[in-house]
Amino acid sequence: MEVDPEMIERSAGWLAEARKVVVFTGAGVSAESGIPTFRDALTGLWENYDPQQLATPEGFLADPKLVWEWYAYRRKLIAETQPNPGHFALAELGKLVWELTVVTQNVDGLHRKAGSRKVIELHGNITRVKCWRGDTVVEDWDDRSWAGDLPPRCKLCGDMLRPDVVWFGESLPEQELAEAFRLAQECDLMLVVGTSGLVQPSASLPAAARQAGARVVEVNREPGEITPSAHLLLKGKSGEVLPVLVNRLKRLLEE
Ligand code: OAD
Repeated sequence: MEVDPEMIERSAGWLAEARKVVVFTGAGVSAESGIPTFRDALTGLWENYDPQQLATPEGFLADPKLVWEWYAYRRKLIAETQPNPGHFALAELGKLVWELTVVTQNVDGLHRKAGSRKVIELHGNITRVKCWRGDTVVEDWDDRSWAGDLPPRCKLCGDMLRPDVVWFGESLPEQELAEAFRLAQECDLMLVVGTSGLVQPSASLPAAARQAGARVVEVNREPGEITPSAHLLLKGKSGEVLPVLVNRLKRLLEE
Protein backbone atom coordinates (compact mmCIF):
# COMPACT_ATOMS: atom_id res chain seq x y z
CA MET A 1 0.00 0.00 0.00
CA GLU A 2 1.40 3.39 -0.95
CA VAL A 3 1.72 5.89 1.85
CA ASP A 4 -0.21 9.11 1.27
CA PRO A 5 2.45 11.48 -0.19
CA GLU A 6 0.75 14.58 1.17
CA MET A 7 0.78 13.21 4.71
CA ILE A 8 4.45 12.25 4.33
CA GLU A 9 5.21 15.76 3.12
CA ARG A 10 3.54 17.38 6.12
CA SER A 11 5.14 15.02 8.64
CA ALA A 12 8.60 15.44 7.12
CA GLY A 13 8.15 19.22 7.23
CA TRP A 14 7.23 19.05 10.92
CA LEU A 15 10.24 16.83 11.61
CA ALA A 16 12.51 19.30 9.84
CA GLU A 17 11.27 22.06 12.17
CA ALA A 18 11.48 19.97 15.35
CA ARG A 19 14.40 20.12 17.76
CA LYS A 20 13.29 17.55 20.29
CA VAL A 21 11.64 14.38 19.05
CA VAL A 22 10.26 11.44 20.99
CA VAL A 23 9.47 8.18 19.21
CA PHE A 24 7.04 6.02 21.17
CA THR A 25 6.87 2.43 19.94
CA GLY A 26 4.95 -0.78 20.57
CA ALA A 27 4.77 -4.33 19.25
CA GLY A 28 3.84 -3.18 15.72
CA VAL A 29 7.33 -1.84 15.00
CA SER A 30 8.74 -5.33 15.54
CA ALA A 31 5.99 -7.19 13.67
CA GLU A 32 7.97 -7.18 10.42
CA SER A 33 10.95 -8.71 12.24
CA GLY A 34 8.75 -11.73 12.89
CA ILE A 35 8.57 -11.22 16.66
CA PRO A 36 5.46 -13.02 17.83
CA THR A 37 3.33 -11.09 20.31
CA PHE A 38 3.10 -12.60 23.76
CA ARG A 39 -0.13 -14.34 22.87
CA ASP A 40 1.02 -15.46 19.43
CA ALA A 41 4.01 -17.16 21.05
CA LEU A 42 1.67 -19.38 23.09
CA THR A 43 1.78 -22.19 20.56
CA GLY A 44 3.07 -25.78 20.47
CA LEU A 45 4.24 -26.86 23.93
CA TRP A 46 2.94 -23.63 25.39
CA GLU A 47 -0.56 -23.50 23.97
CA ASN A 48 -2.28 -24.66 27.14
CA TYR A 49 -0.80 -21.95 29.35
CA ASP A 50 -2.14 -18.49 29.93
CA PRO A 51 -0.52 -15.12 30.74
CA GLN A 52 -1.54 -15.40 34.41
CA GLN A 53 0.72 -18.44 34.73
CA LEU A 54 3.60 -17.18 32.64
CA ALA A 55 3.76 -13.42 33.12
CA THR A 56 2.75 -12.53 36.66
CA PRO A 57 4.69 -12.54 39.96
CA GLU A 58 2.11 -15.03 41.33
CA GLY A 59 2.67 -17.36 38.37
CA PHE A 60 6.43 -17.20 38.91
CA LEU A 61 6.15 -18.04 42.62
CA ALA A 62 3.78 -20.92 41.84
CA ASP A 63 6.13 -22.47 39.28
CA PRO A 64 9.43 -20.62 38.82
CA LYS A 65 10.95 -23.31 36.60
CA LEU A 66 8.05 -23.17 34.14
CA VAL A 67 8.21 -19.37 33.88
CA TRP A 68 12.00 -19.43 33.51
CA GLU A 69 11.70 -21.95 30.68
CA TRP A 70 9.01 -19.91 28.91
CA TYR A 71 11.28 -16.86 28.92
CA ALA A 72 14.31 -18.93 27.88
CA TYR A 73 12.22 -20.09 24.90
CA ARG A 74 11.18 -16.53 23.98
CA ARG A 75 14.72 -15.22 24.52
CA LYS A 76 15.92 -17.75 21.97
CA LEU A 77 13.18 -16.78 19.47
CA ILE A 78 14.07 -13.11 19.85
CA ALA A 79 17.84 -13.70 19.64
CA GLU A 80 17.26 -15.13 16.16
CA THR A 81 15.44 -12.02 14.89
CA GLN A 82 16.86 -8.91 13.26
CA PRO A 83 15.76 -5.27 13.20
CA ASN A 84 13.58 -4.41 10.18
CA PRO A 85 13.64 -1.31 7.92
CA GLY A 86 11.38 0.50 10.44
CA HIS A 87 13.93 0.13 13.26
CA PHE A 88 16.75 1.16 10.93
CA ALA A 89 14.84 4.23 9.71
CA LEU A 90 14.34 5.33 13.32
CA ALA A 91 18.06 4.92 14.03
CA GLU A 92 18.75 7.05 10.94
CA LEU A 93 16.22 9.64 12.12
CA GLY A 94 18.20 9.89 15.36
CA LYS A 95 21.13 11.23 13.33
CA LEU A 96 19.04 13.80 11.48
CA VAL A 97 17.31 15.61 14.35
CA TRP A 98 18.87 17.57 17.19
CA GLU A 99 17.62 15.32 19.99
CA LEU A 100 15.72 12.05 19.69
CA THR A 101 14.69 9.54 22.32
CA VAL A 102 13.00 6.24 21.60
CA VAL A 103 10.55 5.25 24.33
CA THR A 104 9.52 1.65 23.77
CA GLN A 105 7.11 -0.85 25.28
CA ASN A 106 8.97 -3.66 23.54
CA VAL A 107 11.31 -5.97 25.41
CA ASP A 108 13.15 -7.27 22.32
CA GLY A 109 16.09 -4.83 22.28
CA LEU A 110 15.77 -4.33 18.50
CA HIS A 111 15.96 -0.50 18.58
CA ARG A 112 19.47 -0.64 20.07
CA LYS A 113 20.43 -3.49 17.74
CA ALA A 114 19.43 -1.24 14.81
CA GLY A 115 21.62 1.58 16.13
CA SER A 116 19.24 3.85 18.07
CA ARG A 117 21.32 5.39 20.84
CA LYS A 118 18.92 6.83 23.39
CA VAL A 119 16.31 4.20 24.22
CA ILE A 120 14.02 4.09 27.24
CA GLU A 121 12.59 0.62 27.83
CA LEU A 122 9.33 0.94 29.76
CA HIS A 123 8.71 -2.80 30.02
CA GLY A 124 12.29 -3.98 30.53
CA ASN A 125 14.38 -6.17 28.27
CA ILE A 126 13.97 -9.88 27.79
CA THR A 127 17.69 -10.43 27.23
CA ARG A 128 18.45 -9.32 30.81
CA VAL A 129 17.69 -11.04 34.11
CA LYS A 130 17.44 -9.65 37.61
CA CYS A 131 17.35 -10.91 41.14
CA TRP A 132 13.86 -11.73 42.40
CA ARG A 133 14.55 -10.17 45.79
CA GLY A 134 16.96 -7.33 45.19
CA ASP A 135 15.81 -6.17 41.75
CA THR A 136 19.53 -5.99 40.89
CA VAL A 137 20.21 -6.58 37.20
CA VAL A 138 22.50 -9.60 36.92
CA GLU A 139 24.91 -9.84 33.99
CA ASP A 140 26.59 -13.08 34.89
CA TRP A 141 24.33 -16.10 34.57
CA ASP A 142 24.22 -19.23 32.50
CA ASP A 143 21.16 -21.28 31.63
CA ARG A 144 23.17 -24.42 30.92
CA SER A 145 25.28 -24.63 34.07
CA TRP A 146 22.08 -24.67 36.08
CA ALA A 147 20.31 -27.41 34.17
CA GLY A 148 18.07 -29.31 36.54
CA ASP A 149 17.94 -26.44 39.01
CA LEU A 150 16.08 -23.65 37.30
CA PRO A 151 15.84 -20.75 37.67
CA PRO A 152 19.50 -20.00 38.29
CA ARG A 153 20.34 -18.29 41.57
CA CYS A 154 21.71 -14.81 42.22
CA LYS A 155 25.39 -15.12 43.12
CA LEU A 156 25.09 -12.28 45.62
CA CYS A 157 22.09 -13.28 47.70
CA GLY A 158 21.19 -16.79 46.56
CA ASP A 159 17.62 -15.87 45.61
CA MET A 160 16.05 -16.81 42.28
CA LEU A 161 16.78 -14.94 39.06
CA ARG A 162 13.89 -13.78 36.89
CA PRO A 163 13.57 -12.03 33.52
CA ASP A 164 14.01 -8.25 33.70
CA VAL A 165 10.60 -7.51 32.19
CA VAL A 166 7.46 -5.91 33.60
CA TRP A 167 4.87 -8.56 34.32
CA PHE A 168 1.10 -8.07 34.41
CA GLY A 169 0.17 -6.47 37.72
CA GLU A 170 3.64 -4.94 38.21
CA SER A 171 4.44 -1.23 38.07
CA LEU A 172 6.51 0.23 35.30
CA PRO A 173 10.01 1.28 36.33
CA GLU A 174 9.54 4.63 38.06
CA GLN A 175 12.55 6.47 36.73
CA GLU A 176 12.00 5.42 33.11
CA LEU A 177 8.33 6.33 33.27
CA ALA A 178 9.00 9.76 34.80
CA GLU A 179 11.69 10.44 32.18
CA ALA A 180 9.32 9.38 29.38
CA PHE A 181 6.62 11.80 30.57
CA ARG A 182 9.15 14.59 31.02
CA LEU A 183 10.42 14.10 27.47
CA ALA A 184 6.86 13.86 26.12
CA GLN A 185 6.02 17.21 27.69
CA GLU A 186 9.19 18.85 26.38
CA CYS A 187 9.26 17.52 22.84
CA ASP A 188 8.24 19.39 19.68
CA LEU A 189 7.12 16.25 17.91
CA MET A 190 6.10 12.78 18.99
CA LEU A 191 6.10 9.93 16.50
CA VAL A 192 3.93 7.06 17.75
CA VAL A 193 4.64 3.78 16.00
CA GLY A 194 2.82 0.44 16.14
CA THR A 195 1.12 0.64 19.50
CA SER A 196 -2.52 -0.05 20.25
CA GLY A 197 -2.50 2.40 23.18
CA LEU A 198 -4.40 -0.02 25.36
CA VAL A 199 -1.90 -0.34 28.18
CA GLN A 200 -1.76 2.51 30.69
CA PRO A 201 0.02 4.59 31.85
CA SER A 202 2.27 4.57 28.75
CA ALA A 203 -0.77 4.96 26.51
CA SER A 204 -1.18 8.52 27.85
CA LEU A 205 2.19 9.68 26.52
CA PRO A 206 0.85 10.93 23.14
CA ALA A 207 -1.96 12.91 24.81
CA ALA A 208 0.53 14.37 27.29
CA ALA A 209 2.79 15.47 24.42
CA ARG A 210 -0.08 17.02 22.51
CA GLN A 211 -1.43 18.86 25.55
CA ALA A 212 2.03 20.34 26.10
CA GLY A 213 2.04 21.66 22.54
CA ALA A 214 3.83 18.97 20.51
CA ARG A 215 2.77 17.71 17.13
CA VAL A 216 1.83 14.05 17.21
CA VAL A 217 2.22 11.80 14.17
CA GLU A 218 1.05 8.20 14.32
CA VAL A 219 2.28 5.33 12.16
CA ASN A 220 0.00 2.31 12.30
CA ARG A 221 -1.67 -0.21 10.02
CA GLU A 222 -5.03 0.98 11.33
CA PRO A 223 -6.57 3.70 13.49
CA GLY A 224 -6.85 2.94 17.21
CA GLU A 225 -6.94 4.45 20.69
CA ILE A 226 -4.02 6.80 19.99
CA THR A 227 -5.48 8.22 16.78
CA PRO A 228 -7.66 10.91 18.46
CA SER A 229 -4.51 12.31 20.13
CA ALA A 230 -2.59 12.42 16.84
CA HIS A 231 -2.56 15.31 14.38
CA LEU A 232 -2.21 12.83 11.57
CA LEU A 233 -2.05 9.12 10.91
CA LEU A 234 0.41 7.66 8.42
CA LYS A 235 -1.48 4.51 7.64
CA GLY A 236 0.63 1.49 6.71
CA LYS A 237 3.32 -0.88 7.93
CA SER A 238 6.07 0.86 9.87
CA GLY A 239 8.74 -1.03 7.89
CA GLU A 240 7.40 0.64 4.76
CA VAL A 241 6.22 4.05 6.04
CA LEU A 242 9.23 4.99 8.17
CA PRO A 243 11.91 4.62 5.45
CA VAL A 244 9.79 6.79 3.10
CA LEU A 245 9.34 9.43 5.81
CA VAL A 246 13.02 9.52 6.77
CA ASN A 247 14.16 9.68 3.13
CA ARG A 248 11.82 12.60 2.53
CA LEU A 249 13.21 14.38 5.61
CA LYS A 250 16.77 13.79 4.37
CA ARG A 251 15.99 15.40 1.02
CA LEU A 252 14.26 18.33 2.74
CA LEU A 253 17.32 18.93 4.93
CA GLU A 254 19.59 18.87 1.88
CA GLU A 255 17.53 21.44 -0.03
P1 OAD B 1 -0.35 -4.40 20.75
O1 OAD B 1 -0.15 -5.82 20.29
O2 OAD B 1 -1.43 -4.10 21.73
O3 OAD B 1 -0.61 -3.46 19.48
C1 OAD B 1 0.17 -3.54 18.32
C2 OAD B 1 -0.18 -2.37 17.42
O4 OAD B 1 0.67 -2.38 16.30
C3 OAD B 1 -1.61 -2.36 16.89
O5 OAD B 1 -2.12 -1.04 16.98
C4 OAD B 1 -1.45 -2.76 15.40
O6 OAD B 1 -2.43 -2.15 14.56
C5 OAD B 1 -0.08 -2.21 15.10
N1 OAD B 1 0.68 -2.90 14.05
C6 OAD B 1 0.78 -4.21 13.83
N2 OAD B 1 1.65 -4.48 12.83
C7 OAD B 1 2.11 -3.27 12.40
C8 OAD B 1 3.06 -2.86 11.43
N3 OAD B 1 3.70 -3.73 10.65
N4 OAD B 1 3.28 -1.53 11.29
C9 OAD B 1 2.64 -0.63 12.07
N5 OAD B 1 1.75 -0.96 13.01
C10 OAD B 1 1.50 -2.26 13.19
O7 OAD B 1 1.07 -3.94 21.29
P2 OAD B 1 1.48 -2.75 22.22
O8 OAD B 1 0.71 -1.53 21.93
O9 OAD B 1 2.96 -2.70 22.21
O10 OAD B 1 2.63 -5.48 27.82
O11 OAD B 1 1.04 -3.28 23.63
C11 OAD B 1 1.63 -2.77 24.78
C12 OAD B 1 1.80 -3.82 25.79
O12 OAD B 1 0.66 -4.64 25.92
C13 OAD B 1 2.86 -4.83 25.49
O13 OAD B 1 4.15 -4.36 25.73
C14 OAD B 1 2.49 -5.92 26.44
C15 OAD B 1 1.06 -6.00 26.04
O14 OAD B 1 0.24 -6.64 26.89
C16 OAD B 1 3.24 -6.25 28.71
O15 OAD B 1 3.76 -7.30 28.45
C17 OAD B 1 3.24 -5.66 30.10
